[in-house]
Formats: sequence, structure tokens, C-alpha cells
Amino acid sequence: MDRIMVEKSPPLKGNVRISGAKNAALPILAASLLGTEDIILEDVPKLKDVEIMCEVLTSLGSKVDYLDEGVIRINSAGISNYETSYELMSKMRASFLVMGPLLTRMGKTKNSMPGGCAIGTRPIDLHLKGFRALGATIDIDHGNIGAYTEKLVGDKIYLDFPSVGATENIMMAATMAEGETIIDNAAMEPEIVDLSNFLNKLGADIKGAGTSTIRIKGVKKLGGARHSIIPDRIEAGTFMVAAAITGGDVVIENVINSHVKPIIAKLKEAGCTVEEGIDSIRVIGNSELKAIDIKTLPYPGFPTDMQAQFMALMTILKGTSMVIETVFENRFMHVDELKKMGADIKIDDRSAIIKGIKQLKGAVVKASDLRAGAALVLGGLVADGITEIENVYHIDRGYDGIEAKFTGLGAVIYRKND
Ligand code: EPZ
Repeated sequence: MDRIMVEKSPPLKGNVRISGAKNAALPILAASLLGTEDIILEDVPKLKDVEIMCEVLTSLGSKVDYLDEGVIRINSAGISNYETSYELMSKMRASFLVMGPLLTRMGKTKNSMPGGCAIGTRPIDLHLKGFRALGATIDIDHGNIGAYTEKLVGDKIYLDFPSVGATENIMMAATMAEGETIIDNAAMEPEIVDLSNFLNKLGADIKGAGTSTIRIKGVKKLGGARHSIIPDRIEAGTFMVAAAITGGDVVIENVINSHVKPIIAKLKEAGCTVEEGIDSIRVIGNSELKAIDIKTLPYPGFPTDMQAQFMALMTILKGTSMVIETVFENRFMHVDELKKMGADIKIDDRSAIIKGIKQLKGAVVKASDLRAGAALVLGGLVADGITEIENVYHIDRGYDGIEAKFTGLGAVIYRKND
């Protein structure tokens, strides 16, 4: 199994270019099942999760070609299968996003129930609520979930929680439903807007993405398109925190500033200098950064996917910081690992109190999920000695070439395989 080794590094300096967003690429790849002509996707990040989603599309009958670095061509005119395999679904729960497109294209779909993961049970009740509202019959047995319908008819759907995945799955299922569909209390993440823009390029009629009310008017057919994936705001945030925690001076390139507003605000609150360019952000850290509090919320609130990375920073801020995690019920798996490095953290249900210490110490630690893994890399950059991170496959799911990007900024980080 690979491990990532991180040594105490000098303050990071230089420029780093952000890749396309994992959480936009995955739903857009799933949505390509709706198209009946060639689709060209650009700025697709080179990630394990993207590879798995492409395997799912191929297993359903789509033609998937890797044309160039970050460029994929998909043609789903001839899809013939409506079942995703247990093996693929269990590798990546986001495969569940093919359910809406398959229901639309094939009138039926069958997947194994997506499992939970380290950060929570990850229920799908809101996805199913939407499919039923559009007229689908849902059948769950022996861990499989089937959905079928003669036709999909638009309806008004209220989401009890602004779920990103449910908003995406329902939006895709509604693209060719009869009549109009309204999604109320929809998620407003930038990745939802990117998906909506892609679907409209295919010929869909969607308005309101990015607000809490999305209206979808059903159309007869969707064609092809060329689309470039938006930059990954969470990867950008991760490198912004890397500049802060090492007291460095880093320019993050290829970022949409409005997507990282909460991250900019919190780094400024801690005492960083943040300079915004047209599509770049410069973060300058220093040795006097002070404690801050964060509370994770659906977009445009502070992103839960940045919680672990900020907690790594908080371990060495002057004073006591507080984290409240409101989105997932178990997203503190990184706490025990940071404590192995000497961090002073106390958890009480969904809150964590972090008392700043002078110096973390290198240790052997385990990545429990994608963002927790990133947090351990950030801690390792400033910890005394060497930090050895196991289960790095979590990190590879969401960060395209993480060592090269950090090395380019002067970090001492390398991979060791047994
Ligand atoms: C997406 O997951 C992202 N993944 C996650 O990123 C991200 O953390 C999350 O949105 C929140 O921003 C992808 O886009 C592939 P949700 P998703 O449905 O869609 C509850 C990463 O690190 N809920 O918004 O699964 C659920 O329990 C990953 O890149 C229901 O109750 O998130 C959770 O508490 C991690 N019923 C909350 O909503 C449902 O039917 C947020 O889940 C669905 C969700």
C-alpha cells in the first residue's frame, strides 16, 4: 500500500495551478448518459473517482475516450444497460448519480444501495423522494435499489435538507420529464450551477441553479456539447491553508474567487494577507496567526469539505479555536490522527475545541477520508520530523497530483510504496 511521507518543510512559496473540480466532474460525467451525440469534457481532473465513474459509464454502454490531458469524449447514444454493478457502486458512492439519468433514458435503473462512509451514513431518502414525485416506483430488496416508470412527469419537490446529490439527481431526472419540475430548498453549490450549465448546453431548459429554487422544463431530447469543468474550490482552499499554516506566500491560479469567499474571510480573520486577482488568489501567512471559529453550512456557508484542513491549521494558531460540523454526523475522524501528532483537541458531539500548541510532532497516521488525508498532509508540513500517512488512496480520490503540486511550492513530500 502506498504511503505519503511529509517532512517539516520551509514556508511554501510560488504558484500552484488548481485542477478541475471533482464534485462537478462526477455529476457531469453521470449527466453525459442523457446525451445522444458526442460530448467533449475539458479540464477533467485526473482522479481515481473520475476513472471509476468512466468505468460505470462504459459498463452501461457509453463510449468513453481519453483524448488528451484532461479531455474526455463520451457518446451515450447506444447505452443498453440500466444496472450498475455492486463492485463499481461499492468503490464510489457517487456512482449513485447515474440513477436519475438512467431513469430518464431507460425508464428503469438498478443499483446496489450506496454505502455510507467514514464521515456519515450518507442516506439517499431525498433522492428517492424526488424520483417518486416524478412518478417512479422504487423497489428496495437485498441491498439493491430499483426504480422504474412508464414516464416521468414534472412535480414540485421540497428537499428537507439542501442535499447536493439529491438536487443533482432530481435535476437530471427532470430534464426530459413531462411538464415542469420545481426543486425547492435546492442545494446552491457552484457544482450545481456547472451541472445546470452543462445540461442546458445539451438542450435542457433549467433556470435558477445556484438559488434555492430550481425550475426544470422537460424537453424531448438532449444532444451533445463541449464543456469545461469549473476549478476545484476545495483543492484551492487546501492550498490556501497550506500557505497559511507554513507562514508562506503562495499564488493559487485558476480559481473562481466568489467560490472561496468563506475561506478567504476565515484566513483574513486568522491574520493572513489575502490578495485577490482576476482568477488567482495570493495568500501570505505569518507566525502570529490567531485562533478562529468555524461552523460548516451548506453553500454559501463555510464548506464542510474544508473543515479538516482548517482544523489542522487551528492546532498551531495562538489561542483556542472552535469547529461546529453541522453537515455530516461523523466528520471528526481526523481528530485522533492530529492528536497522535500532539494536537490538543476535545470533541463534544458535533463541536471540537482546539487549543493552539507551539509545534506538532511527526507521527504515523491514517487517512480516514479524502479531506482528512489532506489535513494530515498540511499538519505534516509543519510537524517536527517526518509524518507518514497511510491509506493514501483516499487522497488520490480527490487530489490530482498532490505531491507534485506541493513539491513545486518547496514542500518535502514523497510517496513510499511497500
Ligand atoms: C456532496 O456529497 C459532495 N460529494 C461531498 O464531498 C460534500 O461534502 C457534500 O456534497 C456536502 O457539500 C460529491 O459531490 C461527489 P449531501 P453528497 O447530499 O451529495 C444528508 C468530498 O470530500 N442527506 O449534500 O452526498 C446527508 O446525510 C465529498 O469531496 C440526507 O439526509 O452530500 C448529509 O448529512 C465528501 N438525505 C447532508 O445531507 C439524502 O437523501 C449533506 O449531504 C441526501 C443527503
